[in-house]
Amino acid sequence: MLYLLDTANLDEIQKAQETFPLAGVTTNPTIVSHERREFFPLLRDIRACIGDRMLHAQVVGKTCAEMLKDAQALQEKVGGNLYIKVPVSPQGYMAMRELKKQGYKVTATAIYTPGQALLAANCGVDFTAPYINRIDNISGMGVNVVQMITTLFRLHSLPTKVLAASFKNIQQVNDVSLAGCQAITIGPDILWKLAEHPLTDMSIDQFDQDWEGVYGKGKRIYNL
Ligand code: E4P
Repeated sequence: MLYLLDTANLDEIQKAQETFPLAGVTTNPTIVSHERREFFPLLRDIRACIGDRMLHAQVVGKTCAEMLKDAQALQEKVGGNLYIKVPVSPQGYMAMRELKKQGYKVTATAIYTPGQALLAANCGVDFTAPYINRIDNISGMGVNVVQMITTLFRLHSLPTKVLAASFKNIQQVNDVSLAGCQAITIGPDILWKLAEHPLTDMSIDQFDQDWEGVYGKGKRIYNL
């Protein structure tokens, strides 16, 4: 499983990558707007922070030509291990095909149906990003959509990966992981929740108490 962080907040990225096996960072126009900073300096700071991990950055152009220009600017001004996120609009599919021809790495985004994912995969994209929580909010069963996409890619021998996105709780993350997606992108809050359990904390406290009762407070194995 590839874990990506769905944020443009540098402190959160730094903290998360120190602790967890992060494969990269995903952004979209909404996520970058939250930082209230100039766009390219922000993206370059993220690149510097994550090194050669993946950075997924989204085009904002409406036409294929504009999307291609956005992609070129991202490549020139940010670069590195960059994935160009393109929404699955008609102009977007056109841009995906052209970007792949030109050698870009591409993530098809804003996916709500298996059909959109299959079309994007046939454009040659590297990742498809279905929006789990947004699908759940229209009673569309995000996990079933992921299940269908992974099945379709397997049946049609397509190498495109599924990068499940848009999560509001841990259950959604567990469900899509079981449905066979290869990657997930989650906000920092969800990532930390995924890692924790109150009973784990209680267990660790009990170990400490038992250990200290016999070997002394603050004693460590390395200084016995
Ligand atoms: C991925 O990068 C998507 O843009 C993102 O996960 C959407 O999440 P949201 O539905 O919480 O806005």
